[in-house]
Amino acid sequence: MAGNPCPWLFFSLSVFEMAGMESARELAAAFDIQQLTPDFYIDPFRHYRALREHAPVKRLPDGSYFLTRYVDVAAVYKDIKTFSSDKRVEFKPKYGDSPLYEHHTTSLVFNDPPLHTRVRRLIMGAITPRAVSDMAPGLLTLVDGLLEAMARKQAAGGEIDLVEDFASAIPIEIIGNLLGVPHTERGPLRAWSMAILGALEPVLSDAQLQRGNDSVRDFLAYLEGLVADRARHPLDPERDVLTRLIQGESDGEKLTHTELLQNCIFILNAGHETTTNLIGNGLVALAQWPDEKARLIANPALIKSAVEEVLRYESSNQLGNRRTTCDTVVGGVAMAPGTRIHVCIGGANRDPEQFPEPDRFDITRAPNRHLAFASGPHQCVGNHLARLEGETAIGRLLARFPRYGLTGEPLRGGRARFRGFLRIPARL
Ligand code: HEM
Repeated sequence: MAGNPCPWLFFSLSVFEMAGMESARELAAAFDIQQLTPDFYIDPFRHYRALREHAPVKRLPDGSYFLTRYVDVAAVYKDIKTFSSDKRVEFKPKYGDSPLYEHHTTSLVFNDPPLHTRVRRLIMGAITPRAVSDMAPGLLTLVDGLLEAMARKQAAGGEIDLVEDFASAIPIEIIGNLLGVPHTERGPLRAWSMAILGALEPVLSDAQLQRGNDSVRDFLAYLEGLVADRARHPLDPERDVLTRLIQGESDGEKLTHTELLQNCIFILNAGHETTTNLIGNGLVALAQWPDEKARLIANPALIKSAVEEVLRYESSNQLGNRRTTCDTVVGGVAMAPGTRIHVCIGGANRDPEQFPEPDRFDITRAPNRHLAFASGPHQCVGNHLARLEGETAIGRLLARFPRYGLTGEPLRGGRARFRGFLRIPARL
């Protein structure tokens, strides 16, 4: 059923074998999110497996804990009273008084109630399953247009990069539409988004910090104009997220000006890199597991479960964070209030207790209750939209170019938190 993955997968493994793999116990003992080794970025799952087997609630040198078991990760996500998302304490030493600090600590994702509840209600009201299904025809046209452009590029002798030419071009349009950003103004959105989210990496260079802060500043300056214009010319609040955020709830719930701008930045960012990576990770996984690709081509109706498997197997968002608010016990380990926790989605989604043969890419895996979108009160608001984008992009590409394949080793993004590719050289 599953078949063999392509030779590049074996190549990646054999590099480690030749280098002399440490035992799983040694790997788990040495693990520190602040001191990741280059091989981690290629195959973090080997490290996560070692941790799950030997130190599933791993205490790191800075006193925080790293969780890799499905049950522990799911339990932390569900209980927002005990496990807070508020990052004001944690981000102060990392960002100081800076645009990045203000941005991240005002986003709904890094807040607890009441701010989280207010902002989430407003966004949820606009990104409903119905609103998302209304986007399907436009998405189809967009994807087919990109496929046609790639076909022409290849015919003219150009090299295809499935990230630049395809995966990254889809979310930028979709999220741009969601907030009504005019087409001509979308150019800088992706670079801003990557710089701001890149600043969430566990370890940061001064240059990354600078890029992140500059991007928040530029983004805010841009949004001031967009918001002022939308306030003067509102659209249908049932459909337009920005109009809804500006006008607030009919019962009087309103966001402050800062909350409004910072959460617009968050929505624009949240849906870019993650969805680009879902599409890119899916296309690479299918190319590397040719029998699974053949099964999907033979039965296109499997696209929904195939996308769920991509989300599990190569989760675009690999890590989350929480802080304990009271004395608690996680996976048998007692924790004091104020303890920082790294919630490893990538580890949980490869836990054999939940997913038999977790390192196998199986497009008909069932059940597949992965945690790629987290779970509980902070579960991803954009999950329906991301799924629709993934299904349309991967499904249409396979239908038109069933023989597509990689022409070289895809280039990894080199990030621990967001897993994806920067470049995927391919032939259609
Ligand atoms: C494959 C694509 C995506 C993945 C893997 C993903 C993953 C996640 C995860 C794991 C969280 C929870 C973070 C936490 O609480 O620690 C989250 C939250 C969120 N996501 Fe996504 N996301 C994706 C696409 C999108 C899209 C397309 C949008 C926007 C339309 C979006 C909007 C949001 C928002 C607003 C939140 C905050 C929810 C809250 O805190 O209540 N995401 N996402």
